[in-house]
Amino acid sequence: EKGGYEHFMLKEIHEQPKAYRDTMRGRINAEGNKVILPELNLTVEQIKNIRNVQIVACGTAYNAGLVGRSLIETLVRIPVENDIASEYRYRSPIVTPETLVIVVSQSGETADTLAALREGQANGAHVLAITNVVGSSIAREANDVLVTLAGPEIAVASTKAYTSQLIAFTLLGLYMAEVRGTQTEEQVSEILTAMHALPEQVEEILAQKEAIKNYAEQISKHKHLFFIGRGVDYAVAQEGSLKLKEISYIHSEAYAAGELKHGTLALIEEGVPVIALATVESVLEKTVSNIKEVKARGADVMAITHEEHVTDLLRSVDQAFVIPKTLPLLTATLSVVTLQLLAYYASLALGHDVDKPRNLAKSVTVE
Ligand code: F6R
Repeated sequence: EKGGYEHFMLKEIHEQPKAYRDTMRGRINAEGNKVILPELNLTVEQIKNIRNVQIVACGTAYNAGLVGRSLIETLVRIPVENDIASEYRYRSPIVTPETLVIVVSQSGETADTLAALREGQANGAHVLAITNVVGSSIAREANDVLVTLAGPEIAVASTKAYTSQLIAFTLLGLYMAEVRGTQTEEQVSEILTAMHALPEQVEEILAQKEAIKNYAEQISKHKHLFFIGRGVDYAVAQEGSLKLKEISYIHSEAYAAGELKHGTLALIEEGVPVIALATVESVLEKTVSNIKEVKARGADVMAITHEEHVTDLLRSVDQAFVIPKTLPLLTATLSVVTLQLLAYYASLALGHDVDKPRNLAKSVTVE
């Protein structure tokens, strides 16, 4: 049942190329310049009238929404807010019929996310669910469902569901952009071409697992560590940190790289591992200055970046992992794979139950 893998999590990490392909299949026209989502009830008129988007979810699905925000804001130029589902209802969110609420849930059964869906609907919003389970409560109650085709996810730590959610957000963003005329056909086809290359590129990262395992064994000796990044890299940092805490029980924090010096830098001392996500070109230089700040305090820095920046970065960091070249909009779908493997091998090195971490359940049906 584990298909020859030692754990479901490792199997599911390896299933990501397929999950990407399956989630894209049938949703791109033959010319490769248009996203087609016939399953959506959302009308062209409704899409044109959307004034704001609220993405609501828990845990890893929330983290996928952070990337989703950046995708939708970049592609469609509509303001997007992210909310943790258990907070959303209680903050009296400002929802109107021109609000698109997107709930994200692998299982489709998370109680807080379901409650958020109902809150959105009660305020007249159209609620679109991104979920992996077609017959789930969330899928049944939502006004629209965009299914991720990741296949069943058994390991408690979510991997292929998260990355499939990123693919779904990209498709949705491109679709909305087309309706609202915010991206040209050339831009759309450039992004779609890059998306088609992702499954192969994930394989390239999977091929680095021995090196990632070595690094995981190194960090498994530490009690605390930090993830830093800017923009989408920060969103991925948050997911990497959650994944690591969840299954290795090593304490970590994810910080917006520029925010460290507002307090957290006090925690950086000799030998503390810092994992720096450095894939977003537009802010690379700024991230490098933040790397230098932690290096100056003795941190041991590992960077995740593109091949072309490795030589430069290795002047400021101790080691680096490379992700294949893609568009800035899509780097999260690759860099997170390195962090999933890192969490997996750290948990393994510490002898924990990777697929069933303590205190956690796969589906959280209580609020
Ligand atoms: C972490 C993890 C959880 C879930 C969260 C939401 O790896 O799996 O954080 O992402 O409980 O679950 P769903 O997506 O089923 O609503």
